[in-house]
Formats: sequence, C-alpha cells, structure tokens
Amino acid sequence: MAVHDGHLDLDGLEAGAPGSAALTDRFGRPLHDLRISVTDRCNFRCQYCMPKEIFGPDFAFLPRNEILSFEEIERVARIAASLGVRKFRLTGGEPLLRAELPKLIEMISAIPDTEIALTTNATLLASQAEALATAGLDRVTVSLDSIDDAVFRSMNDMDFPVAMVLEGIDAATAAGLGPVKVNAVVRKGVNDHTLIDLARHFRGSDHIVRFIEFMDVGSTNGWRLDEVLPASELVALIDAEFPLEPVDPNYEGEVAQRYRYRDGAGEIGFITSVTQPFCGSCSRARISAEGQIYTCLFATEGSDLRSKLRDGTSDEELTTLLAGIWRARTDRYSELRSEATDELGERPRVEMSYIGG
Ligand code: GTP
Ligand code: 5AD
Ligand code: SF4
Ligand code: SF4
Repeated sequence: MAVHDGHLDLDGLEAGAPGSAALTDRFGRPLHDLRISVTDRCNFRCQYCMPKEIFGPDFAFLPRNEILSFEEIERVARIAASLGVRKFRLTGGEPLLRAELPKLIEMISAIPDTEIALTTNATLLASQAEALATAGLDRVTVSLDSIDDAVFRSMNDMDFPVAMVLEGIDAATAAGLGPVKVNAVVRKGVNDHTLIDLARHFRGSDHIVRFIEFMDVGSTNGWRLDEVLPASELVALIDAEFPLEPVDPNYEGEVAQRYRYRDGAGEIGFITSVTQPFCGSCSRARISAEGQIYTCLFATEGSDLRSKLRDGTSDEELTTLLAGIWRARTDRYSELRSEATDELGERPRVEMSYIGG
C-alpha cells in the first residue's frame, strides 16, 4: 500500500516497547527508510562500484543459501515497519537479477502504510516493468551515468548501450511506475562533459535527473577527492545553460537537493554527499542480501540478523534487537569525513554492490 513520498508522523508509535516514545537514534533521528539489497550480483562492472580487476570471473559472490529468502526479507520489513519505517527501497547489486522479484514485492506491498521503490540499472526493466507494477511496486529510480553512448558503454564496462536503459525507462513509465528518477554518478574527467546533454535529454519529460557526487564508498573503487565535481559547480554549469531555481524538499531528510527549470521544463536534483553531507537528517537503515544490518552506508561492520532469523528468535525479540541497534546509532560518516579525512580513509568499508547504495 502506498504512502506518497511517505513519511508519516511517528508520534504515538510504540517503538517495539509499548508506551515508549518514538524510536530515534542517539542524535534524535527517526528510522524512516529501509534499503534492502536482494543480491550482490550485477551485470554491469561500473569502475566506481564493481571494478573488473576485483569483481572478475573468480570473484566469490554469495551462495544461494547465504542469501535471505523472501520470507526472511518480508519478516524484517514487517518488523522494521512496526518501528516506523515507511519506505522500502530494493537495491542490489542489480535487484532485477534476483529471480521472481515480483513475488517479494507482492509480499512487502501487503505491509500497511509503506511504499516500495527500486533502484536499478534498467537493463532488465523493459521485460519486467509490467510484472513489477502489478506486484505493487510504487516507483523506480534508474541509474544512467551518461546519455553519450560511448561514455556510458565505457562506464558500465560491459558495453551496454544507452538505448537499452531508455527502453527500460519507457516501459516503466508505460507500466505506471513513472515519472522515473534518473541517477547519474558524476566523475570529473570521465562523464562531466556529457551532463548538460543528459539534463537536456530529460527536460520536459517529467523524469527527474539527479546528479550524484562520486562517493568514497567501499575500498576497491579507487576513489579520489579530485574526481569529485562539487555539486555547487554543477548547479552553476547547468544554471548557465538552463536557468534553475531551488525547490523545497519533499520530506525531511530527502537525500537530493531539488531544483526546477525556470522555464517550467521540470525538476532536477543534486546529491551532495561529499561537499554538503546530510547525516543530520539521515533516517536510513540498510540490510545486505545476506542479512547484515548496517546503520550507515560507510559502515565497517554490520549486525548479523540472518542467524537470528534462522535460530527461532521470535518477532518480539527481533523487534527489540532492531530497535536497540537504531537507538545506539551514532553514525555520521560523511560529516566526519569532511572534518578529518585521513583517519577515516584508512578503514576497510563494505562495498557499494554489497550494501546497495
Ligand atoms: P528517494 O529520495 O526516495 O528518491 O531515494 P534516494 O535518493 O534515497 O535513493 P537512491 O537509491 O536513488 O540513491 C541516490 C544516491 O544517494 C545513491 O548514490 C545513494 O548511494 C545515495 N544515498 C542514499 N542514501 C544515502 C545516505 O544515507 N548517505 C549517503 N552518503 N548517500 C546516500
Ligand atoms: N558514489 C556515488 N554513487 C554511487 N552509486 C554507486 N556507487 C557510487 C559511488 N561510489 C550509485 C549508483 C546508483 C545508486 C544506488 O548509487 O549509480 O544509482
Ligand atoms: Fe551494478 Fe549499480 Fe554497481 Fe553499476 S553502480 S556495478 S549498475 S550495482
Ligand atoms: Fe547516513 Fe551514513 Fe550517509 Fe551520513 S554517511 S547520510 S549517516 S548513511
């Protein structure tokens, strides 16, 4: 069941313990979103996420029995909803590689007062959009780093063409999953010369392009600060071509800063995780495909939920466990990185394809 851009009031919520106040972490941040990774596999090899040198033919992906079943995922989602989660986002790897995903969507969409979104590279979307929508998916976000075919083929490093992604976006729109958000990770010197064309392509279409500052997620993507194009510079660049004005956030804690074209041709967004971190309002928990819970994208360690899901632990105990993890949360990695880069840079972090962005 959908809650539009759903962030319901948490007042009166019984956070796992009857009579207790709304569940918040140590900095007073509520738990609103659960990002669920359904697979660690992907058919792309974006160099900033799954570089071929590491994720080659010999890379050991998670075996089937180590991945949460749909029943286990639904159970976690239901418990998370009882603690205040109002939005589920399915991620990967590439989530459409998980067999029978519509079945999972059907199960999760039965949880009241929540919405379900999906972040995908869209290569399998044309064939699946209808079934996903029928199952209860509310909307999709599509990753597309460039509208220039050669640049895109090189960035996904598997020679997938732009046309395939555009077909996926069209199919999603036809199935009622639009307007679509289009995510483009910006790497200085790699795709920054193609971004105005990307904005131009989607102007007037109702789809919302969002430019994402290249983040230092994981330990294998060779991230360097000098490849980050600050969003403020990109806003100025696009504003010079297509004049922009800022728009208020849709909800407290929204990741993207919203802008609209002054001529009425629609909206675009900027995700400024590196130059203007947004940890202060971060309300997201993440679960990996194997059932590790993380309270930050840049976490070094998660909490193992899978063993609890498989050892007879009751729903009530799981609720208390999850509430306790959230209450103890002090994460604010991106803010700390801005303050003291060196020390944090040394720690091994989980990979993007594992945690799902
Ligand atoms: P909506 O606002 O519902 O459209 O979703 P979203 O923007 O949160 O999700 P999406 O999967 O499209 O993520 C967009 C980008 O923001 C990706 O690069 C994510 O990795 C990044 N992102 C999402 N949540 C966080 C977060 O909590 N911290 C940081 N640093 N980045 C995030
Ligand atoms: N920095 C910023 N965004 C990234 N994504 C993947 N890796 C990175 C990174 N290092 C994006 C994907 C997808 C979203 C979930 O995260 O392109 O759109
Ligand atoms: Fe796959 Fe997305 Fe990672 Fe690219 S960024 S390799 S599409 S999971
Ligand atoms: Fe949230 Fe961690 Fe991202 Fe900060 S860095 S916004 S705490 S996920």
